[in-house]
This record gives sequence, structure tokens and C-alpha cells, in this order.
Amino acid sequence: MAPQLTIRPGHPLFLDLPWSSSIADWDLPILLDLPKGISRHEVRFLSFPEGTYVVKELSTALAHNDYAVLRSLEAVGAPAVHAVGIVDNRAPDRTSEHSAALITAYEPFSFSYREMLAGPGFGARRSQLLDAFAGLLVELHLAGCFWGDCSLSNVLYRFDAEAIETVMVDAETARMYEEDLTDGQRAEDLEIMIENVAGGMADIAAEAGADLDQADLELGYDIALRYENLWAELGQTTRIRVDERFRVTERVERLNRLGFDVEEVDLLPSLDDTSEMIIKVRVGNRNFHTNRLKALTGIDALENQAKAILADVHYFSARHSDSATTKSTLATRWRATEFEPMMSTLTALAGVSDPIQAYCDVLNHRYHLARSLGTDVSTLDALADWLASGRPGYPFAYV
Ligand SMILES: Nc1ncnc2c1ncn2[C@@H]1O[C@H](COP(=O)(O)OP(=O)(O)OP(=O)(O)O)[C@@H](O)[C@H]1O
Ligand SMILES: [Mg+2]
Repeated sequence: MAPQLTIRPGHPLFLDLPWSSSIADWDLPILLDLPKGISRHEVRFLSFPEGTYVVKELSTALAHNDYAVLRSLEAVGAPAVHAVGIVDNRAPDRTSEHSAALITAYEPFSFSYREMLAGPGFGARRSQLLDAFAGLLVELHLAGCFWGDCSLSNVLYRFDAEAIETVMVDAETARMYEEDLTDGQRAEDLEIMIENVAGGMADIAAEAGADLDQADLELGYDIALRYENLWAELGQTTRIRVDERFRVTERVERLNRLGFDVEEVDLLPSLDDTSEMIIKVRVGNRNFHTNRLKALTGIDALENQAKAILADVHYFSARHSDSATTKSTLATRWRATEFEPMMSTLTALAGVSDPIQAYCDVLNHRYHLARSLGTDVSTLDALADWLASGRPGYPFAYV
């Protein structure tokens, strides 16, 4: 019986790997040692010219569930790691721990909450980090996904300009539903999360040699409360008077501030009061600016990074436009004369592991500098000042 590989297009074929032996025993030059959360299964990182990949070994049924849920989530644009392939028939017994393996694309510049809490802690961005954690569960539930194992190790985060992006890793226990999740299912998922988070906090305290009563075992309740508030905000139907349509804008803006893009607004007549209307909104996923930046410049960035970079493209275009030049020509010129040289400079700097995020921090610095000086500042001058001021905004603890 030979191992059988199913790999999605655009990736290495992973054929020459010793799939019949446990990945714990692999000794290959392409193995990378990268930070990771705590896991029941063996997980290894592999470096290929095409990118970095993560292999997890587990029983056949669990691997197939993980793979299928990750693919469904990707299809609806929900934030989860990307499944790349699956390996079957690694051992004769399909229930054995290494009978299958799941391959995912490594989520660059990401860390699990577990690593953060075991290391530097939340710091000044505690509230934002907890909202981002809760926001991930909300997004998954909106997509019809019951997770069943939300934990500090299974939520990854990365800095996205001023915001924090969270990503689901590990969908072994998850299930996708066609219809909306029931309140009972959502409550159950929250309970699992609360218990897992408390367990994670207790482990972290034990590892640090601290007393259990020093661990914040209530953290999951705080996340659940934030989840409930966000859920209520999204599901809320608002009644407005017929002459109060401006309230639609207010509601959309409030949701935008929470990080959601509004895809559709329904205005329904109120059945019991003809002077009133009911607003219902449908939130989309958060890829609008990412898609726009990619289409205009070919650059891949996270949603808020893309928003900041697009503002830079517009700023450049406003200074260089004339009636004969099209938007896409200006964007190409911006990329060649502004973006690429700055990326080379940032990439060469020691301690910068995520140059796109550094670029966004420089842009943010340029804006504040220009405001305080009352005049435009060039990106190069902003870079020099950003470096001299200790790279404000750039997440030091994680470089
Ligand atoms: N695609 C990925 N990108 C970045 N990190 C990853 C990826 N896949 C896994 N990891 C890291 O490896 C760790 C373990 O992976 P995973 O949670 O899938 O394993 P598990 O054994 O199923 O965990 P659990 O004990 O929660 O069931 C994660 O916490 C994460 O830090
Ligand atoms: Mg896990």
C-alpha cells in the first residue's frame, strides 16, 4: 500500500517525502523550526521555493474533516488557514495517529494567542486583541461554522496596519452548516472556548511556575461578552422614521468601525407603523481593499494594510495625475518609483520581518509628521524620522 497524495494546483507535489514514517521522525534539510501553539498532533514546517507549508499528522477521518472544512471556509472567504493537500494510506490502520496528513499553507507573520500570552502578554492592545479573537468566532458563526475547539493555540493573529487580523487554524472538530447556527450551537461553541481558554491560561501559569490563582481563568468570559456584543450589533434590526434615512449611513459606519464591510442594506416597510421602516444589513467578509489593491497593483496585502496602501496610491496619483494618464498607469508608476524602492530598503533593515506592515507604519508616521509640521513630507523623510524615533507602531516584541 502506497501513500496517496491529493494536492491542490499551484503548490509543490510533496512526492519525495517519507510519508510512510511519522513526521516526528523526519530529518530533512527543508524542515524549519518555527514558533507554534500547543498541539495534540505532530506538526512540522517545510520550506519550499513555492513557500512555507505546515504538515500535521492525524487519523484519516479527522484529516478529511479538517481539509473539507478549511476548503469550505476558503470558498466563502472566511478567515482560516488555507488547505493545500491531504495524504492518505500512510499506515494500514486508518484510525492510527499517522494514517493521514494534512498540508496547509503557512500563515506568514502569524502567532497564536497562546504564544503571546506565554510570552510578552497582551500589552497595551489587550482590548483590541480580545475583540479580534471574539470577532473571529463571530465571522465563523456567520459563515455557518461550528468550531468545537476554539482555543488560545487555535487562534492565530497578525498585525494588519492598525488593526489585528485573526485566523482559524485547526478545523478537525469543526462542522459547516447550510442553515444559520442555532443559538444553542453558538452557546455551546462559546462554552467550549471558555473552557479551552481557562485550560490554556492554567497551563501557561504552570509552565511559568506561577500559582493557579495568579492565572486569569476568566479570560474566556471576557471574550464571550465581546462576542455577544458584536453578535447583537450585527443582527440588530433598526427601526427608523421614513424621513430618517441618514440613519442607514450611521449604522453602516458603526459596523465599518467594528471591522465589517456592509454588503447589502435592506430597507423594509414596517407592517405595524407605516411612518417607520426597518433596516437590516448583511455584512460581507473583509476583503474589499485587499481585492482592490491586488487588481490595481498586483500587490498582496491584508485588508487594513491594503486600505492604507491604497490611500498612498491615491495620494501619489493626486500629485502626479494629468488628464492623459490613466489610473492603472499611475498605479504602475507608483509601484515602480515609490513602493518597490521602499520595500527593498525595508527588507534590508535588520529586525523587519514583515516589510508590508513596516511600509504601513511608515505611511502612518508620514501622516502624523505631516500633520504636526503642517506640510507634506516625503516618504523617504518619513522613513528617516520613523527610524530615528524607534520605528513607532512596528510590533517589536515579535520581530
Ligand atoms: N497553516 C499554519 N500557519 C501557521 N501556523 C500553523 C499552521 N498550521 C498549524 N500551525 C501551528 O501549529 C499549531 C498546531 O496546529 P493544529 O492546531 O492544527 O494542531 P492540533 O494538534 O490539531 O491542535 P489541537 O491540540 O488544538 O487539536 C498551531 O497552534 C499553530 O501555531
Ligand atoms: Mg490546535
